Amino acid sequence: MADIDEMQEAKKFYADIPQKTEGFFLKGSNSLDWGMKNRLAQIFNPESGRTVMLAIDHGYFQGPTTGLERIDLNILPLTTYADTLMLTRGILRSIVPPSITKSIVLRVSGGTSILKELSNEEIAVDIEESIRLNVCAMAVQVFIGGEYEKESIINMTRMVDMGTRYGIPTLAVTAVGKDMDRDARYFRLATRICAELGAHYIKTYYIEKNFETVCASCPVPIVMAGGKKIPEPDALTMAYNAVQQGASGVDMGRNIFQSEAPIAMIQAVRAVVHDNEQPDKALDLYNTIKNELSKS
Ligand code: R5P
Repeated sequence: MADIDEMQEAKKFYADIPQKTEGFFLKGSNSLDWGMKNRLAQIFNPESGRTVMLAIDHGYFQGPTTGLERIDLNILPLTTYADTLMLTRGILRSIVPPSITKSIVLRVSGGTSILKELSNEEIAVDIEESIRLNVCAMAVQVFIGGEYEKESIINMTRMVDMGTRYGIPTLAVTAVGKDMDRDARYFRLATRICAELGAHYIKTYYIEKNFETVCASCPVPIVMAGGKKIPEPDALTMAYNAVQQGASGVDMGRNIFQSEAPIAMIQAVRAVVHDNEQPDKALDLYNTIKNELSKS
């Protein structure tokens, strides 16, 4: 009897099957702790390795931006199609239902308005708020070359330090001053500084020339910021080029919520980001959904 028991016991332990040790799917993130990785895996889809973040945090420095006047009416219907929402704690608490299961990236820098020098930000949200609100990352603006460059970098490194204590990643958002050249050299500088100083992923703008060198020289994932509203075919082409050239997704705001058909646009962006859909096919999808919605 003892022999049978031992055989059954050996079977339960699968002693002949070595335990798998999987690498983490996201660029430069394999040495992070479990909580960090788990949060990043709620932002970036582990299958495509990419994300569609919907950025609606513009009000933190410019008030009720066009398209964001009524987030309850115009933005909540879009959340189904986003992987992640990027927003402030004010909008999260006052408008977004806590039953939502989308990952949240919380804007934690602030303190300035469009009426004054924008780079003069501070950390405006305690780390305890991020824990309490169960967020998956904290977003900090970094103004490389800006008047308050050093202060904004230190805001970021402080969030990296605090977030590391609790397993919450930091997203560095590279802000470009009006007088700066938006070229690959500038964006390589800005993104690399943020990564070297500990940001877990970085949001930056797309540029026509040499964007792939910006992605290649940044050791952590890059997500593309949408920027000001451009025609839908151009925005889809920009998103397509960005992911094909190495971006791990997009963090788009105005090009989605200021679109003529935001629900159609976000689905077209998803097709480009997650399914590598060509821009013309994604535009067909946009028009099809837009037409269907206009009938209902
Ligand atoms: C700006 O500082 C905010 O972080 C916005 O979330 C960001 O600019 C992305 O929005 P958009 O795609 O409208 O540029």
